[in-house]
Amino acid sequence: MLGPVSLPVLVYGRQDRPGVFDGGIALRKVSVIGAGGWGCALACVLCRNGHDVTLWSILEDEVLALRQNRVNQAKLPGVRLPEAIEITSDLSAACSGKDLLVFAVPSVFVRSTSKMAGKYVGDGQVIVNVAKGIEENTLYTMTDIISEEIPQADVAVLSGPSHAEEVGREIPTTVVAGAKSEVTARLIQDTFMNDVFRVYISSDMTGIELGGALKNIIALAAGVIDGLGLGDNTKAALMTRGIAEMARLGLAAGGKLQTFAGLSGIGDLIVTCTSRHSRNHNAGELIGRGYTMQQAMDEVKMVVEGVFSAKAAKKMAEKYGVSMPIVEEVNKVLFDGKTAKDAMNDLLTRERKEEFSQMDWE
Ligand SMILES: NC(=O)c1ccc[n+]([C@@H]2O[C@H](COP(=O)([O-])OP(=O)(O)OC[C@H]3O[C@@H](n4cnc5c(N)ncnc54)[C@H](O)[C@@H]3O)[C@@H](O)[C@H]2O)c1
Repeated sequence: MLGPVSLPVLVYGRQDRPGVFDGGIALRKVSVIGAGGWGCALACVLCRNGHDVTLWSILEDEVLALRQNRVNQAKLPGVRLPEAIEITSDLSAACSGKDLLVFAVPSVFVRSTSKMAGKYVGDGQVIVNVAKGIEENTLYTMTDIISEEIPQADVAVLSGPSHAEEVGREIPTTVVAGAKSEVTARLIQDTFMNDVFRVYISSDMTGIELGGALKNIIALAAGVIDGLGLGDNTKAALMTRGIAEMARLGLAAGGKLQTFAGLSGIGDLIVTCTSRHSRNHNAGELIGRGYTMQQAMDEVKMVVEGVFSAKAAKKMAEKYGVSMPIVEEVNKVLFDGKTAKDAMNDLLTRERKEEFSQMDWE
């Protein structure tokens, strides 16, 4: 099924003490930069944890509507923002004097937003990026971009299988926070974690970010498989071979293999390839049914990040000399007019291979 899915409100959270976690977390001043689906859902998590939360949007209309209705009807219908969340379009007020900033704008706006925010960010101020993508011309991850534009910040990442539609309704979710220092990783864990939002920590920022960006491309391909009317076997094959090529690139770029077996790797891949909430999957499904890339993007009506990441991943694979056959075929379908059926056929009839390298043959 395509388009927004309606879900009941608050199906799991602790109704007796909403959002309050027994872990004794320190209360902090936090701003969420970007008020789309994910920004709104994370602002709710942080507010329920008791923090002082500000939510910023560049769109004046969005700010006015959010102040009035407390719901982002276009991006996260059915999830009400608590009254305690302050909503603003003043970036200086949103960034200055906060303990932690969460960057939740779509990946295409991460550089422009970082450029605007930089002058308000203090030395060592923690910025947690939650956008998923690779910048096409630089091949930078999102934290690379933020670090370049705001060098004084301590930049980290939070990622994993986490649809805003479910997090906003307190459906149990688990993610991973990646940071350069353990102190920062634990600060993020401590700030976000509650009894329905579990946060692990890791030092492998490269692996976490590449997992989050690359899985969107495999999710597009999973949608194509559904659009072509193929089966569960086919999709399982795609996901398994997909994580293999994601990990190959991730390792070449300096990530750790275990990260690709973790929440931001296989975890996020599973949720994005199988979920009705995934816009990448939905766009792929339309392409599988015969839509062009542009027609599919127009129909989904949201930024389909896998389309941008596909080009960047192909360039990265060439840079590191890594084989990424699925990413290559997705690029051909998106940008060279190849049919989804031909791409599928070419993947299946590639030269014969071993499943992985270094076999212990007799
Ligand atoms: N939605 C999810 O479930 C989810 C989960 C995990 C991670 N993410 C990641 O978080 C990021 C944001 O996703 P989303 O679903 O909230 O996207 P979205 O499409 O809902 O975000 C749109 C919002 O971006 C902001 N915006 C629009 N134009 C802008 C501009 N020019 N400059 C700065 N901000 C602008 C506005 O607040 C707008 O509402 C993406 O990278 C996505 O991959 C999303």
